[in-house]
Amino acid sequence: MTVFSVRPMHIEDLSQAVEIEREAFPTQWPPTPFKRELGNKMAHYLVAWQEGHRWDPPPRRGALPLLSRVGHLLCWSRHRPQHNHSDQPFIVGVVGFWLLYDEAHITTIAVRRSHRRLGLGEMLLHASIEMAVALRARVVTLEVRATNTDAQALYEKYGFHQSGVRRGYYTDNNEDALIMTTDSLESASFRDGFQLLKQELIKRMHAAPSMGNWPLS
Ligand SMILES: CC(C)(COP(=O)(O)OP(=O)(O)OC[C@H]1O[C@@H](n2cnc3c(N)ncnc32)[C@H](O)[C@@H]1OP(=O)(O)O)[C@@H](O)C(=O)NCCC(=O)NCCS
Repeated sequence: MTVFSVRPMHIEDLSQAVEIEREAFPTQWPPTPFKRELGNKMAHYLVAWQEGHRWDPPPRRGALPLLSRVGHLLCWSRHRPQHNHSDQPFIVGVVGFWLLYDEAHITTIAVRRSHRRLGLGEMLLHASIEMAVALRARVVTLEVRATNTDAQALYEKYGFHQSGVRRGYYTDNNEDALIMTTDSLESASFRDGFQLLKQELIKRMHAAPSMGNWPLS
């Protein structure tokens, strides 16, 4: 049974967070400084992880000195490099936001390509909004590429609407950013819609045989 859960990001998750972000935003520069962010009181980062599954880090390139590498080639069978199983849980997605006064601003959200369309992006967004509510944020905002319609569909599902445009915001291709914002998190319409989405998400997770139970609070 495959169970996914959400929890705060830990320092041990950093390599996987970088890996996930690099895959999701290959042209993004600078990358999110996750290590620094973990010490930032305004920043809140969560990860979705797969229970009972360990992360296999990619083999480190250039990890061996040249002489040893030649030795490896000569004595391949005896010195075959070990596959590097880690004891770290397998992180499948990350989300982060900054709380600036009463506004939660989502700085990043990404799911491993291999794990998309399973409800994990939704699970992460949901958990971050719940956390923002608990921290007394009034609204949630974010920027999204004008062409990123997949992400926009996710945000629209959660009640975000376009509240502005930043022209040429993304420096890699000069693409515009749409600013998307929720209604007041305290409004009855937002709360009712959010509650409904939560119930649907729980049902969806429990119904998917590959997902097993999702221990959402
Ligand atoms: C955006 C992203 C986080 C969504 O994660 P995901 O786990 O695949 O999304 P989910 O399975 O939770 O989908 C939830 C909703 O999002 C929308 N959505 C997600 N992917 C979609 C796609 N490819 N096409 C259309 N709608 C999509 C749908 O509304 C979906 O609800 P539905 O299943 O009822 O149709 C993921 O595609 C990703 O990591 N993309 C690369 C990084 C990125 O662009 N991040 C956003 C930066 S602003």
